[in-house]
Amino acid sequence: MFPLPRRLNFSDATNFEGSGRNEIEFHNTGLYNLIGPPSYPPPNVGIYEYTRLAEDVGKFKTPTLRNIDVTAPYMHDGSVKSLNEVLDHHSPGGRTLTGLAYQGAGSRNAKKDPLIRGFKISSQERSDLIAFLESLTDEGFCFMTRDSPIRGEARS
Ligand code: HEM
Repeated sequence: MFPLPRRLNFSDATNFEGSGRNEIEFHNTGLYNLIGPPSYPPPNVGIYEYTRLAEDVGKFKTPTLRNIDVTAPYMHDGSVKSLNEVLDHHSPGGRTLTGLAYQGAGSRNAKKDPLIRGFKISSQERSDLIAFLESLTDEGFCFMTRDSPIRGEARS
């Protein structure tokens, strides 16, 4: 196997030289780690729902960050209420739930993507990152209607 070039961007598409098309990647971010399979609560089990391959449990497409400040709640099941909570999930490399429902340490999910390693972040860096995420709001897009002109087209 030759080393494959990897590119991670907001649309999370990977472009292999010569393939002529983008591959969409899916990741298990360690949002859950239920005891016993599947480690994510059904019916939201990621692309495992379609492939039935054990390694696909909890794998979801990375959502766009465009307008992320105005699209709460977050994650495939809306179980994360705020951008701060998203960072609480991503920074330790997975979410730990301690209540009766769904308890488990997501960071120890056996199917977690190796790219989700966690990171240390100061409170200043956290506010800077959230300010950056907030800056991705595109008000023109938010208030676009069926009759809005397409950019570059003259209004009639
Ligand atoms: C500092 C770095 C990162 C930030 C600020 C960030 C931010 C976010 C946000 C705001 C969401 C919620 C999106 C929504 O629900 O609409 C999200 C979800 C997600 N992120 Fe990240 N992310 C980071 C790193 C990563 C990395 C490195 C990966 C992949 C290896 C990743 C994969 C995902 C996936 C797959 C989801 C959806 C998970 C689900 O629905 O269960 N993220 N991220």
